[in-house]
Amino acid sequence: MDKILIVNASELVTCSGFEAKCGKEAMNDLGIIQNGAIAMADGIITHVGTTEEVLSQINEDEYAIIDAENKAVLPGFVDSHTHFVFGGYREDEYDWRLRGLSYVEIMERGGGIINSVRGTEEASLEELVELGLKRLDSILSFGVTTVEGKSGYGLYKETELKQLEALQLCDEQHVVDVVKTFLGAHSVPKEYKGRSGEFIDYLIEEVLPIVAEENLAEFCDIFCEDKVFSVEESRKLLTEAKKMGLKLKLHADEIVPLGGAGLAAELHATSADHLLVASDEDILKMAEAKVVATCLPCTAFSLKEPYARARFMVDSGCAVAVASDFNPGSCHTESIPLAIALSTLYMGLTTEETITALTINGAAALDRADTIGSLDVGKKADIVIHEFPSYKFLPYHIGVSTVEVVIKNGEVAFVK
Ligand code: NIG
Ligand code: FE
Repeated sequence: MDKILIVNASELVTCSGFEAKCGKEAMNDLGIIQNGAIAMADGIITHVGTTEEVLSQINEDEYAIIDAENKAVLPGFVDSHTHFVFGGYREDEYDWRLRGLSYVEIMERGGGIINSVRGTEEASLEELVELGLKRLDSILSFGVTTVEGKSGYGLYKETELKQLEALQLCDEQHVVDVVKTFLGAHSVPKEYKGRSGEFIDYLIEEVLPIVAEENLAEFCDIFCEDKVFSVEESRKLLTEAKKMGLKLKLHADEIVPLGGAGLAAELHATSADHLLVASDEDILKMAEAKVVATCLPCTAFSLKEPYARARFMVDSGCAVAVASDFNPGSCHTESIPLAIALSTLYMGLTTEETITALTINGAAALDRADTIGSLDVGKKADIVIHEFPSYKFLPYHIGVSTVEVVIKNGEVAFVK
């Protein structure tokens, strides 16, 4: 049966809305319906309300019915920042970090991103797709129904395009929706050492036009960071990308406060991400320009760095999103329960704000708040049934997934 009806949910956590939720009041409003029901047909949500209301509006004989008594029902999570397609692993570097070396020290020793570039160059397209699909199974098991994936482990044209193609094939072959981001400006290749500006010109002339013309990515991102790409270089690349029709993201103010967050506001980027050391002034500019502030608490945790000031961002009127940053180096985890734990315990967000950050604001960080990220009529039927009666169990069951059933495009895609 292609129609599903979920009834008797102790909490239907709708996160209702069609745009980013900015600031404290909006982010704390989860639009909860007690004893809720939700109906879907052809992959789209058709009815939302109390069980009594929805049953009075439909013919229940047409539906496969799921009884969600004593369970909280939420939108599928939107993980808006990952690097989940990569070849090779960096377990040795992680071990060095456990022994005290910093991320930057490892990078200066020739480790870091460049190491994954080697692994990704060596992997075939088929291998990358196989790895990507396996990771998507895990991502889905955490209740994620849309995930962003970046290139950036190629740097040069051939491998960048291979990575984007692998992301495309993962999207086609897996039920989880994959949003593609071009991150050729992720690191300066050794042949361009000391000439990062020339590498930006190479990307603008040789790679970006193909990405844009062949529609290989929706977003363009850059690692705007000391010893990587400057604010001026970032402005140049992103301005060109925008002219070619791509939407913008930045890895901004992660290690050194260069002003990437301010640049995101200036260019009206869709999101600026990391922001561990973003200045007050730039955060206010982001709020004003409605740039989604994407916080990645698992990365700060993994790098043992102070967390992004998510509390200040929300109080300043920003729309904050939370994402995993799943990647082979700085943050080798796709765990949403860990992100929830860190967001609530260490970034100072409330449980409600954290859920908003992982649903409707995650959708806004991918420019999809009109189609996913909430349980509203007309949106994609991407729905997760959790095993406990309240959303409050999500942080409370620390580091453990509460996901019981995932419905993707109106069909059951995962059962615990
Ligand atoms: O989002 N900050 C830069 N890029 C990635 C790290 C990628 C890697 O270490 O491989 C990030 O943390
Ligand atoms: Fe990242």
